[in-house]
Amino acid sequence: MNAVIQHPERVLSGMRPTGPLHLGHLHGVLKNWLRLQQQYQCFFFVADWHALTTDYENTAGIANNVWDMVIDWLSVGINPGAATLFIQSRVPEHAELHLLLSMVTPLGWLERVPSYKDQQEKLREKDLGTYGFLGYPLLQSADILIYKATQVPVGEDQVAHIELTREVARRFNYLYGREPDFEDKAAQSVKKLGKKNAKLYNELRRKYQEQGDHESLATARALLGSTQNLTLGDRERLYGYLEGIGRIILPEPQALLTPTPKMPGLDGQKMSKSYGNTISLREAPEEVERKLKTMPTDPARVRRADPGDPDKCPVWPLHQVYSNEAVKTWAREGCRSAGIGCLECKQPLVDAILTEQKPIREKAREFIENPDLVRNIISEGCDKARDECRKTLDEVRQAMGIAYR
Ligand code: TRP
Ligand code: SF4
Repeated sequence: MNAVIQHPERVLSGMRPTGPLHLGHLHGVLKNWLRLQQQYQCFFFVADWHALTTDYENTAGIANNVWDMVIDWLSVGINPGAATLFIQSRVPEHAELHLLLSMVTPLGWLERVPSYKDQQEKLREKDLGTYGFLGYPLLQSADILIYKATQVPVGEDQVAHIELTREVARRFNYLYGREPDFEDKAAQSVKKLGKKNAKLYNELRRKYQEQGDHESLATARALLGSTQNLTLGDRERLYGYLEGIGRIILPEPQALLTPTPKMPGLDGQKMSKSYGNTISLREAPEEVERKLKTMPTDPARVRRADPGDPDKCPVWPLHQVYSNEAVKTWAREGCRSAGIGCLECKQPLVDAILTEQKPIREKAREFIENPDLVRNIISEGCDKARDECRKTLDEVRQAMGIAYR
């Protein structure tokens, strides 16, 4: 059965195991995932091979980071009943698709991915002149295409990788979706729609191809989506024939740009591990308090009696995230009039963050005390993921002429 049809919307996303997740991840990626898992079929995975592409020299921390990250996901409410959770390297099928795609991917496409040069510049201390690093966006393409994901939630920095994925899929379909007798086969497939739907399909196809009518295209796709009892081959052919191309074996995914409410860090810059300005999801309460209390404030407020300006203070953006109107007004006015001190101003933030973290910390404790539970969730997720991958790989091998039976 074809994933595209069975699951018209399938979401896939991966995260590198970079260490404990922080509040920036919670307010950006994770809240987004929580929403998506209720709406779509979701696959979320730990991209441990991707960590190797830049950190191959120091792999000692990877395994711990992987488990910490999975616990973080589970603790914020990513639900293994709703989403399939797995670890990339435990689904080696990704590597096979990566290899097969590497055969058809021009070197120039990889060299032109902006992150290739950018990261090499930024991470000068590392030698990123490796085969693995150059190929890393293609590995990402394999991660996505092997599930026939339709939507891929990513940040701005990853959009170019989704674009590459689309190009690679198109090239693959172009090379291997053309059958010598495609037109004849397509006509046979159309017949299988039944008289009425075949007529409708042909009309819609003509309207799209002759007049570029996108609504007809969408309607015809919906028609195919709702038609039962078609073989996979027929379906792929009908989708491709509709658009005037060959079979669509690997559908092109869309980037689903993660809305980033810029979570401010402890220094006013965006919260990010590389700036060392984070509060981790499961940070000890004393640490949260200490970090906030030592946060810099408006430099003009030297003494308690000096009035301040919230717009010049890194604490203020945190109020924007955590405080309601009343607290914000209190803080803003108290600051400007020197009516409150900075520690007072920070207290509602300490409270809000501790309140936010409490259920996360409690849930994490369950998983930490019961590591087998986490192992089992991941094992099950890996099995489910592999089942999906095998289906795609079978088709890919067949299309490429290397399925031996
Ligand atoms: N490259 C992504 C990152 O560094 C992680 C990733 C790997 C990914 N494979 C993916 C994200 C597939 C989305 C889909 O953040
Ligand atoms: Fe910043 Fe609040 Fe102090 Fe004003 S009172 S400087 S907003 S911490």
